[in-house]
Amino acid sequence: MRRMTSIFPPAPPLGSSMLPARASAEARKLIALRRSTSKRGLIAPGPSQEALNDFLTVAARVPDHRRLAPWRFLVFEGQARADFNERAVEIQKQENPEATETMLADTAGYFTRAPVVIAVISSPDVTHKTPVWEQELSCGAVCHNLLLTANASGWAGCWLTEWIAFSEGINTLLGLTEHERVAGYIYLGTAKENPHERLRPDLTSKIQRWTTEQAI
Ligand SMILES: Cc1cc2nc3c(=O)[nH]c(=O)nc-3n(C[C@H](O)[C@H](O)[C@H](O)COP(=O)(O)O)c2cc1C
Repeated sequence: MRRMTSIFPPAPPLGSSMLPARASAEARKLIALRRSTSKRGLIAPGPSQEALNDFLTVAARVPDHRRLAPWRFLVFEGQARADFNERAVEIQKQENPEATETMLADTAGYFTRAPVVIAVISSPDVTHKTPVWEQELSCGAVCHNLLLTANASGWAGCWLTEWIAFSEGINTLLGLTEHERVAGYIYLGTAKENPHERLRPDLTSKIQRWTTEQAI
C-alpha cells in the first residue's frame, strides 16, 4: 500500500478566497470505493504521531453549526492500549457479572487489535442554542472524515463502538463529563488482507422525489 508521507495542506489564512468545489477523480474513487477493514484485520504499522496529528487537524474540518467544535479526541498508542484493555476488563466484570470468559478475553484484546485507536468524544454544549442533535451529527462527521482522511493517506481502519462506548465505568476511566459520549473508536493500521465488497443497500427504496401531492 502506497502511503502519503507529506502532510496535508495547511489551512489558508483566515478570509482567503477558497474554491467552492474541487473536482477530483481520485477523491470520487476514494469515496465510492471506501471499505472498512475488519476489527480482526488490522496490524502494525500504524500512522506516526506526526501523521496522526495532521489527520486529526484535517478530519476536524467538518460542518459545525455556530463553530462549537463539539468533539474531542483521545489517542491510544503503544502501552496505553494494553493499559486500557486491563482496566476495561475490570470494569466489565463489575458492570456485567454475567460476562463470560470469552467476553472478558475479547475485551482484554480490544485496543491491541490495531496500532492506533482514537476515541472520538462527542462533547456538546447543552446550554447552547445549537441543538445537541446537530452537535452530535457534527461529531459523526468527524468520525467519518477521520476514516476517509486516514484512507486517503494509505491507512486502513474501522469505526467501532461495542460495549465500551456505552459504559459508565469506561466513561469515567476516559474522563468524560456528564454530557459527553463516545461517538466511536476509530481503529487505524495496516490491513492484513484486502477486505471484500459487501452487500450495499438498494438505493431505489431510499430515494424519493418529494412533490406537493404527498403533502397532507
Ligand atoms: C456508529 C457506528 C458504530 C459501529 N460499531 C460497530 C461495532 O461495534 N462492531 C462492528 O462490527 N461494526 C460496527 N460498525 C460498522 C463498521 O464500522 C463498518 O461500517 C461495517 O463493518 C461495514 O463496513 P463498511 O464501512 O465498509 O461498509 C459501526 C458503525 C458505526 C457508524
